[in-house]
Amino acid sequence: MDPHRSHNPNSSFRTHQSAYKRERDDCGRQYSERKHFKPQHHQQNQSGPTPGQNPLGSQGLSTRREQYERNFPVYKQPVEVGCFSLDSKRRFFNDSRQMRYYVEPEKNPNFDLKDGYKDRYVKRDDRVKEKLDHILRWILANRSKLSSRETTASSCALDVDFVTWRGHLTKLLTTPYEAREGWLLAVTKFKGTLYISEVETEAARRERENRTERHEEMMYWGYKFEQYTCADNVHSLPDPGGVVNTNEAFCTVVQTRLADHRLLFSGEVDCRDKDPKAPAPPACYVELKTSAEICTPKQRSNFHRFKLLKWWAQSFLPGVPRVVAGFRDHDGVVVGVETFPISKISHLIKNEQNCWKPTVCMNFCCDFLSFVKRIATEDNPDLVYLFSYEPHRDVTYTVHKDFKYTFLPPWYVEEITSSRDSHHQS
Ligand code: A3P
Ligand code: MG
Repeated sequence: MDPHRSHNPNSSFRTHQSAYKRERDDCGRQYSERKHFKPQHHQQNQSGPTPGQNPLGSQGLSTRREQYERNFPVYKQPVEVGCFSLDSKRRFFNDSRQMRYYVEPEKNPNFDLKDGYKDRYVKRDDRVKEKLDHILRWILANRSKLSSRETTASSCALDVDFVTWRGHLTKLLTTPYEAREGWLLAVTKFKGTLYISEVETEAARRERENRTERHEEMMYWGYKFEQYTCADNVHSLPDPGGVVNTNEAFCTVVQTRLADHRLLFSGEVDCRDKDPKAPAPPACYVELKTSAEICTPKQRSNFHRFKLLKWWAQSFLPGVPRVVAGFRDHDGVVVGVETFPISKISHLIKNEQNCWKPTVCMNFCCDFLSFVKRIATEDNPDLVYLFSYEPHRDVTYTVHKDFKYTFLPPWYVEEITSSRDSHHQS
């Protein structure tokens, strides 16, 4: 067990306050402390249509940026409520055994990211769709952390409105700026909680099945950079001669609130600060990224407009405070390393014209979740509301009763149902 990790959400919340105060001082877009939570903020969005302003059309949800340019919504400091690990065979463990420790590289390390691609690479089978299964396993193993006595007695089995992957929320945050890739999100309401699980689009499937060899190799580069900069133990060093196995993962599980939406989500964490005095999770976590080196003003502008949007959205959601980027040349050699504090990213992009805005991302996500609450009202583990986004279109939905998209597994539905019944009988 990691001695630096606190599994107590309250103590973790308190130890994070100074870190998040810095976050607020640095940047206008901030997490809200619990005492500042204002549910009224969101109710405005749910009020009746205002001609020309209401982002919710008669059937869909607008994805136009202008609709979401209002005050930053309340987003509570994310609190880590647990974690889990997936081993080299993708087996689930309710612990932090796959945690890795960040070892700061030199500024110009010349890491060769191509090394080991042919002979020391075990690639996860991305044809296998795991849906929410790992998160659901974590929930069953940690239910006492999630359900209060009152909610167990009511219709809500868990104390949250939404359960999903962080990556699905990242896609929602970036939707108003996404001009190339659509998405499909399946939603099921079960015992009062809305579960959101991605469905692969036809276009994404075609792209996955037709990747070029160069693309496959470049996907490896990001993992290889992780191997150069992460150690397995606090006192050890990275082992660039080892095997890169992308089945392995360490995932944090966090709870937070976006306006009146109580969220529970999980996301993979690359590594943590190994200093024993580092703040408690998620503030000690480090996200690792690679990107093409920047040689021209145009490349810098593209980096700000596209890469930093994705990096910001992915790490802001779980409260990971910094991204360490390895900039690589065309031949896959890391020629520079730079740290980007998440709270500074909005300053970096300020001089870009027509650039993305954190408030648009968060307000769109918030309104999408309200839209889902309004549409997905039938509580039924087999029923799926399928929400669909195609670039430059509204979000629309279809309802599926034919099991085609059902994603809550029987072992989860049965366990939640039977343990609730036994609770009621006792
Ligand atoms: P980079 O982020 O350096 O590109 P993550 O950064 O989210 O931890 O992901 C680790 C690596 O997985 C990525 O490194 C990239 O190599 C690969 N990867 C993740 N998502 C991907 C995607 N949608 N398409 C291709 N590669 C992806
Ligand atoms: Mg990463």
